[in-house]
Amino acid sequence: MGYRYETTRDDYGDFASGAVLRSAPGFPAFPVRLASEVFQHALDIRGGTKPMVLWDPCCGSGHLLTVLGILHRRSIERLLASDIDAAAALPLATANMDLLADGGLAARAVQLTERAQRFGKPSYAAASAAAGRLSLRLKAAGGPLPYAVRQADVFDPTALAAAVGDSEPDLVVTDVPYGEQTEWTGDHAGRGLQECFPPSLRCFGRLR
Ligand SMILES: C[S@@+](CC[C@H](N)C(=O)[O-])C[C@H]1O[C@@H](n2cnc3c(N)ncnc32)[C@H](O)[C@@H]1O
Repeated sequence: MGYRYETTRDDYGDFASGAVLRSAPGFPAFPVRLASEVFQHALDIRGGTKPMVLWDPCCGSGHLLTVLGILHRRSIERLLASDIDAAAALPLATANMDLLADGGLAARAVQLTERAQRFGKPSYAAASAAAGRLSLRLKAAGGPLPYAVRQADVFDPTALAAAVGDSEPDLVVTDVPYGEQTEWTGDHAGRGLQECFPPSLRCFGRLR
């Protein structure tokens, strides 16, 4: 795929899953450069400059939304994360999206510094420095970003509507399960993807 927006190959190491942003087995992180490319493509198609409500309805660890929130803070008014998995995905997504709250990344930097001192591991010190850089980056781009993390089966319109509440999403970006590391789950896991999003929403990412 040719990149039209994210044309320079930046160093996205600060966003590595399992360093500043938390990870767990079974939660694959979407590639950062591709996420940024897809998001900017979507922005272009949508047009206008009004900051948007961005929704990931299969949010997993929340890595994708947290990354986009930091990289594209100026274009985003609010993030909405939902997933069917309340036991593992939602706590992880909440921990990652808490980084976008006031002081979230600064607190993470302090926590990683303490770990570096306690365990003498240079990787914690490097992650702490990365958290400091991400904190400055978020601050410079507009500061804390509001978000909500909710449970919903993407095939259940009632649950989806409840998850959205009054935060009408402008754009959906998601990394659906495609049977390698993650699978569709829930009572309607066999249904087609086209059924899962209201027709008023445009879908990007790997759905096309
Ligand atoms: C590929 S992972 C998402 C990875 C995510 N981009 C991240 O950064 O961690 C797919 C997610 O879809 C969720 N999922 C599976 N079936 C679902 C369903 N019926 N409704 C909503 N989410 C579902 C899984 O729980 C999993 O977290």
